[in-house]
Amino acid sequence: MAIKRSANSQSVPNLGFSSQKKSPQTSRPISKNTSDPIVSGAATPQETESFDESLRPSCLADYIGQKDLKSILSIAMGAAKTRQDSLDHLLLYGPPGLGKTTISLILATEMGVNCKITAAPALERPRDITGLLVNLKPGDILFIDEIHRLNRLTEELLYPAMEDYRLDITIGKGQAARTRSIPLPKFTLIGATTKVGALTAPLRDRFGLIQRLRFYEPDELRLIVLRTAKILNTEITEDGAAEIARRSRGTPRIANRLLRRVRDYMQVKKLACINQQLAAEALDIYQVDVQGLDWTDRLILETMIHQFRGGPVGLEAIAAATGEDSKTIEEVYEPYLLQIGYLHRTPRGRVVTTDAYQHLGQITEEQLSIFAAHSEGERSNDDGLGCI
Ligand SMILES: Nc1ncnc2c1ncn2[C@@H]1O[C@H](COP(=O)(O)OP(=O)(O)OP(=O)(O)O)[C@@H](O)[C@H]1O
Ligand SMILES: [Mg+2]
Repeated sequence: MAIKRSANSQSVPNLGFSSQKKSPQTSRPISKNTSDPIVSGAATPQETESFDESLRPSCLADYIGQKDLKSILSIAMGAAKTRQDSLDHLLLYGPPGLGKTTISLILATEMGVNCKITAAPALERPRDITGLLVNLKPGDILFIDEIHRLNRLTEELLYPAMEDYRLDITIGKGQAARTRSIPLPKFTLIGATTKVGALTAPLRDRFGLIQRLRFYEPDELRLIVLRTAKILNTEITEDGAAEIARRSRGTPRIANRLLRRVRDYMQVKKLACINQQLAAEALDIYQVDVQGLDWTDRLILETMIHQFRGGPVGLEAIAAATGEDSKTIEEVYEPYLLQIGYLHRTPRGRVVTTDAYQHLGQITEEQLSIFAAHSEGERSNDDGLGCI
C-alpha cells in the first residue's frame, strides 16, 4: 500500500550524533499546538451526529476501497439470499474511521433488512440487550459498536442468542430462580471494534466471519475526497483531492475532515476551487504535513530523538516527556507512525527509524550511510512483541 513501509526503514542505532540532549524545540522549531487532534481517526461528537451520516455511501458500489472485504461480503450476501437465510454473524475490526459502521449499514440496505444500532456501553443492564433481541424481525441486523466493551452478563446472554437463536432469561432469585428460554428469529449480529484482542474467545468464536478493515491507499482516498466534495458542492481538482488524500493517514474520516478544513480556507480566501496549491497551503496552516503528521506526531518523534537518543524508550516515558496522555499516544498517534515505518516496537521499547529522521530533517547524508551500514544485520530484531 502507498502508506509504505520502505524496505530500508530501520531502527537507528545510537552512534552518538544525537547524544546531546536538546529540547524538541531547539533543533527544529515546532510551532505551538493550537489545534484539535485533527488527524485522529475517531469521530468528534459533531461528526458522529451529522457530518459522518450525510457522507456515508449507501450501497456497496459506492463504498470505495476495501476490495477484499467487499468481495467476501458480496459472496456472503449472495449465498444468504440464495438460501433465503440471514447473514452469518460478522465481526469487523480495525482503527477508527475506516468504515466499519458504514459497511454494516450498507449490508442492511443490500439485504433489505432493518439495522438496529447500539454500542456496548449503552447495554448496561441485561434488559437493554433482551429488549433489543426480542424486537428483532427475521433477517434483521443488530449492530453493536465497541463490542469489546460488553459486560459479562450481556455477553453471556448473547452466546445462546448468537448460536441457537434463543434467549435464556432467569426469573426469580436464589432457590426459586428458574431459567426460561425464548426463541428468537434468525438475525445477524455485526460487532465492530478497534480492539479485537480485547474480545473474549467465546464471543469471538461465535462470529462466522471475522474481517479486518485496512488503511486506504491514497488513490482510494482521492476518490473518497472527490465524492465528498461533490456531496458538499465544492469544486476540487484531481490534484487538490490527491494532496488531501496524501495527508489523510489512510483514513476516510480524516480525509473528509481535512477536506472540510480546506474548504473553509478556500471560502475565506474567496476562491472557487480547491487545487493542489491551495490544499497544501491550507493543510500547512493546520500543521498537517505531507506525510499526514501533525504537531503531536512530530513532538513525539523529536522528543524521542533528543531526549532518548531515538530510543528504545517505553511508552510511559514518552508520555511523561511530551505531556501527552499515554493512551492517546498509543491509540491515536502510534498506529500510524508504526504503519508508515517511522517507529518500531522492540522488546526494549519504541525506536525511531531512519525514515523518521529523514522526514524530520534530523539526519545528514553522512550519518545516513553510517546507519545503513550499521543496521544491515539488525532488521530481524523487531518482532513487535513484548514492547514496553
Ligand atoms: N469506503 C468508504 N468510502 C467512502 N466513504 C467512507 C468509506 N469508509 C468510510 N467512509 C466515510 O468515513 C466516515 C467514517 O466511517 P465510519 O463511521 O463507518 O467509520 P468506523 O470504522 O465505524 O469508525 P469508528 O471506529 O469511529 O466507529 C463516514 O463519514 C463515511 O462516510
Ligand atoms: Mg463506527
